[in-house]
Order: sequence, then C-alpha cells, then structure tokens
Amino acid sequence: MTTLISPSILAADFAKLGEEIRAVDEAGADMIHIDVMDGHFVPNITIGPDVVKALRPHSKLPFDTHLMIAPSTPYLEAFAEAGSDLITVHPEADPHIHRTLQSIRNMGKKAGVAINPGTPVGVLDPLYELCDLILVMSVNPGFGGQSFIEASLGRIEHIAERIQTLGTQTILEVDGGINAKTAPDVQRAGATALVAGTAVFRSGLESYEAAIRTLRL
Ligand code: DX5
Ligand code: ZN
Repeated sequence: MTTLISPSILAADFAKLGEEIRAVDEAGADMIHIDVMDGHFVPNITIGPDVVKALRPHSKLPFDTHLMIAPSTPYLEAFAEAGSDLITVHPEADPHIHRTLQSIRNMGKKAGVAINPGTPVGVLDPLYELCDLILVMSVNPGFGGQSFIEASLGRIEHIAERIQTLGTQTILEVDGGINAKTAPDVQRAGATALVAGTAVFRSGLESYEAAIRTLRL
C-alpha cells in the first residue's frame, strides 16, 4: 500500500493557509496535518479550533489534528466540530488517555495516540485496540525543522510488529525530521504514514508535487 503523506501546515505560510492547503491537496497529499500547541505541554503556541474551522472548506482531505495541549479533553469536541477527521492525543499530557481515545471515537472521529521520543513504547500496550492511528514522534514536539532522531527507527519497527501481530488496521505515522533522506528508512521500518512540514512547504509552491512524490518509497 502506498504510504500516506500528511503535510504539516506548521511550515506553511500562515498568512495564506487556505491557499497552501489547496496547493498540497492538488499536489497529491493524502491528509493535512494540523499541529495544535498550547505553550504549556510544548514550548510553542500555534492553532486553535477556529482556524481549523476556517480551513475546512479549502480541502476535502482528512484533517489529521495533532493535539500537543494539556489538558486535551476540554477541547476535543471543539476540534471535532471544527472538522477534524482524526484527533491525536499524547499520553504524556493525559492521565486518562484510555477514556480520551474512547471519547474521540464516540464523537465519530478517528482516534490517534502520539508518543514522544522519551516515552517507552510499552505505554501503547493497553491502547492498540482503542486507536486508529499511532503517531511516533521522531523529534521532541514543539517546532518544525528539527533533525530526525535515529533511535526512532527501532521504535517504529517494534510498533509495526505489534500492529501486524494484532492484525489491526492501525495507521503508523511518523512525525519530525522527515525528508527525502530519512523517509525511506522510516517506511522500511514499517511506517504507513509520514508527516512532513519543512520538506513539503519549504520546497517552494512549484515543487509541492515533487516533494510529496519523493517521500514515498
Ligand atoms: C513538531 C510537529 C511536527 C512538525 C514537523 O512538534 O508535531 O508535525 O511540524 O515538522 P518537520 O517536518 O519540519 O520536522
Ligand atoms: Zn505534528
């Protein structure tokens, strides 16, 4: 199956987000990755539900919303109503992650769980069957343009094996430092979706199509 590419709008031109989303949609993206940061769980502040809502008419692609906020529970409904299709939360930011994943599914949305580079993969053990997507952070969240952490490859392999053994349809997405150089190894390790901010949006409007195509194996 072809790897799903989810360009992160964190690296897009914030003054013309609607246009940027239409451009990556036309360039062959499979999802739109939206990084939500609160200046508390991570040291940066980005996008809220009103922005997601304003962007919704610009593309029919699934909105892959990555919540880096604590707490996340009070905002789940707002992001669901704003038009997110997938909502991903961090167990490091939520002591009730099991319940949160169920709440997201109860809202009729796909539920994702994201883990930081310093979080042991075992945290996922009780969660595999409750999520539609697992997001492995291959940088410490907060900023775009950071270098891929090589130790992520073993973690991706481990999680990919677990998904295969369980026989679930879980998407295995990797986020941070993905570019033409790191993408092949990440896919060989078992990733089925890639987030790419810098590699897509900083390639120049004319190159979005090539940048997206180059990432797939
Ligand atoms: C980091 C975000 C990423 C980020 C990736 O906290 O979760 O989605 O936008 O940016 P690049 O692809 O530039 O590493
Ligand atoms: Zn992200």
